[in-house]
Amino acid sequence: MYNLKIFIILCLTFVVTLQAAVPIIKAINQSKSPIPDEKILNVAHRGASAYAPEHTLVSYQMGKKMKGSYIEIDLQMTSDGHLIAMHDERVDRTTNGTGLVKNKTLNEIKELDAGSWYNEKYPQYAKKEYEGIKVPTLEEVFKTFGRGSNYYIETKSPTVYPGMEEKLLKLLEEYNLTGGNGRSSHVILQSFSSESLKKIHHLNENIPLVQLISYSNTGILTEWQLASIKEYAIGIGPSFKKIDQEYVKKVRQSDLHIHPYTINSKEDMEKAIKWGVTGIFTNHPDVFQQVLKELACESK
Ligand code: G3P
Ligand code: CA
Repeated sequence: MYNLKIFIILCLTFVVTLQAAVPIIKAINQSKSPIPDEKILNVAHRGASAYAPEHTLVSYQMGKKMKGSYIEIDLQMTSDGHLIAMHDERVDRTTNGTGLVKNKTLNEIKELDAGSWYNEKYPQYAKKEYEGIKVPTLEEVFKTFGRGSNYYIETKSPTVYPGMEEKLLKLLEEYNLTGGNGRSSHVILQSFSSESLKKIHHLNENIPLVQLISYSNTGILTEWQLASIKEYAIGIGPSFKKIDQEYVKKVRQSDLHIHPYTINSKEDMEKAIKWGVTGIFTNHPDVFQQVLKELACESK
């Protein structure tokens, strides 16, 4: 009888302990942020785009080699529904073609030269091998870099490309790049469009999202804005030129990450770290890597 009592007490203790632990375990598993707080992200903006034509495989490769922790990719979509890596809605600036991406098939995009413009614009970094390189599809990027890389992908002009978010999530799943929770994900998705991010959040609430914000004057964030962003995103991406230390402090106090764009000088990088940012977008991932090393910060 005595043994039975002990057994029942032990069972009850076990059940109570387990019940108390469940919310904690659940909270850990449901964490949306893939970024441990002590890590500062070195996001290779359009690849290592200071040294190679932006949004090309060679630029992404260089970004990785220079210790960029994420490859940043802007998305556009062709008339036949392929997601491609390109910043502008038009092909004019970064290829030898003209016109809108949405009016071109993938075959037409693949005829374009995405490297020669760079050699002409930046002769100091020009390379013969950049001539004639192709615009990559998002799928080609995943095939090339696989799960050994992290991707920071922006839905550009989502209203111009209905269905862009669904296609993106399908590809991420196919290439096994989204984990069961934020911490096991190889991607962060970003957009200036809160509608696009909310749609993604609705489709898969485990993918970490960052709300990009564009300001024409000095950046201001209200408590209401922060709370509303926190409903679906893990962080904020403002222009570095429009923010100050107070802004960064406010975002961090709200337990959101802050990844300002686009910081290219060593001085600004050091300033951003001093302010407490949790990552930056840069065309010079090698310079930021050096800054992190000098300041003995750990980069992811
Ligand atoms: O995605 C962060 C930053 O890239 C936003 O500006 O114009 O370079 O895409 P943009
Ligand atoms: Ca971008």
